[in-house]
Amino acid sequence: MNEEIKSIINKVKQSRNISLEQLKLLLEINDDEGVHFIREEAVKVCQKTYGNQVLIRGLIEFTNFCKNDCYYCGIRRSNSQADRYRLTKEQMLDCCANGYELGFRTFVLQGGEDGYFTDDKICDLVSAIKEKYSDCAVTLSIGEKSKESYKRYFDAGADRYLLRHETADEAHYKKLHPEEMSLAHRKQCLWDLKEIGYQVGCGFMVGSPGQTVETLYEDLQFIRELQPHMVGIGPFISQKDTPFADKASGTMEQTLKLLAIIRLIHPHVLLPATTALGTIHPKGRELGILSGANVVMPNLSPVNVREKYKLYDNKICTGNEAAECRYCMENRMKSIGYEVAVSRGDYIE
Ligand code: 5AD
Ligand code: FES
Repeated sequence: MNEEIKSIINKVKQSRNISLEQLKLLLEINDDEGVHFIREEAVKVCQKTYGNQVLIRGLIEFTNFCKNDCYYCGIRRSNSQADRYRLTKEQMLDCCANGYELGFRTFVLQGGEDGYFTDDKICDLVSAIKEKYSDCAVTLSIGEKSKESYKRYFDAGADRYLLRHETADEAHYKKLHPEEMSLAHRKQCLWDLKEIGYQVGCGFMVGSPGQTVETLYEDLQFIRELQPHMVGIGPFISQKDTPFADKASGTMEQTLKLLAIIRLIHPHVLLPATTALGTIHPKGRELGILSGANVVMPNLSPVNVREKYKLYDNKICTGNEAAECRYCMENRMKSIGYEVAVSRGDYIE
């Protein structure tokens, strides 16, 4: 295979950094051997820290109301086609009980930016879950809030927070979001979360409209700066009732390469093989793990609301019970030589 490519990959791995030129070359690789090499290197790096364990998180999508209007997202406020719902506290605790039985030790509460869920309500939910399941981690993924709010959730027991930065390039950010949202604020939220003591996750979509090698380079530089504990990336997939309905989706090949590159520059990161990746290819999640990812996030939401939390079209698993996905995932991971861990799955320094 191409010796130049091999030497770039080794350099990236050793320096835990990548230049724009190197990124360009790696994203252009399209021979099987080259792609295999980079993915295998990423898997080796990941296994050094996490072995053949895949960490699972139970995702509870508890509200699809959102005050934001991101152009790519199916639950944006202007989407009048979205059938809005909120879960009750009891429903969420039922999801956790079910999830605990199934071996989940991390619950991810994800939702749109929904004013109904005041800080008091969020703190009440978090402390109720932590009280019942003191051996579990609670992850919040509820968007941009004030530092004071983040601190309150943390004091109530929240352990982790996911807030994808979406793109680290100012001009690109403007193409994806309406005027009232800003990259500077988004980044500030991530720094605040980190300072408070959360394990934080940033991330972006692969192939979002307007993304270029240059914007991806900035994403990787931002990841190097922030040193997050988690990075969530998955392909952009168009949603029919959004302004981006007719935009092309991201590809699996680019997503796998970027997973591998992120693993190489940030060896200990918790890196999910996302549902979006499983949506664009039937073996997407397995291939994600085989490119350096080490987390999967099956859904614990009640089946009757799954269809409604559609950030993008054709989302998988909307008709499956939590238990089905749990065992499906175990089998999928076994098929590639991995085991699903029954543990909180914390970041390993
Ligand atoms: N395709 C893929 N991912 C999407 N997200 C939102 N809309 C889409 C879409 N159309 C991602 C965003 C957000 C996360 C919860 O889901 O990156 O941060
Ligand atoms: Fe949901 Fe396979 S993970 S059915």
